[in-house]
Amino acid sequence: MEAEGGKTQFELPRGFAGRILLMSMNLGHKTIYKSVAKALELRAEDSLLEIACGNGHFIKNYASHVHSVAGLDLSELCIKLATKKNKKRIVAGSAEFVLGEATQLPWEDNKFSVATSMSSFLLFTKPVALESLKEMYRVLREGGYLFLTVPSMSLIRRIKALLRIYPAFNDSNEIRDTFYHIKSFKLQIFHNFSGFDTSVISMSHV
Ligand SMILES: C[S@@+](CC[C@H](N)C(=O)[O-])C[C@H]1O[C@@H](n2cnc3c(N)ncnc32)[C@H](O)[C@@H]1O
Repeated sequence: MEAEGGKTQFELPRGFAGRILLMSMNLGHKTIYKSVAKALELRAEDSLLEIACGNGHFIKNYASHVHSVAGLDLSELCIKLATKKNKKRIVAGSAEFVLGEATQLPWEDNKFSVATSMSSFLLFTKPVALESLKEMYRVLREGGYLFLTVPSMSLIRRIKALLRIYPAFNDSNEIRDTFYHIKSFKLQIFHNFSGFDTSVISMSHV
């Protein structure tokens, strides 16, 4: 799964393989999308931000009733596909998709009422995780909330990690020890640096 520049397709989908991967994620992540949509309880007046939005599938299928939506992703292919998928809303002025880095959000403070990022935070290295959380906090309004999904360390993911599909896993011993344990490394980031109050929800309870 290695791609150009040392980035895997999971980190930066591109080309034909990227398209296939994105389509397979749309199928494989269906339970996650559904659970997140349920947990977010998106209201008509909400202004939603999705970081690492992939091909815009969640916004298209689960946020059609929301006042305004924005997606950001590092992959040109993702933004191209997300734009195509959500063309009508973009033309109507209630959606935008931006090519960019989670650590540098191109929006003003307090713009969004809710933010989410699914199956992507696990790919961020510690500095990227830290900066992106600060940015998400900055662009959220007072009383707004962020819903992140992080998978549990199942056997299959352990094998994937050992196959180095998740580069952050090999960043350092600290990350290796706590990679999927949001309660330790990443929850600590939330508390110490980002400003968020936090709670952890097990997906089976969402
Ligand atoms: C595993 S995919 C998940 C896509 C989508 N959230 C979904 O569940 O279908 C990870 C996504 O994170 C994006 N990504 C990785 N690092 C990023 C960064 N630093 N800033 C913004 N997007 C990033 C990739 O381009 C890719 O689209």
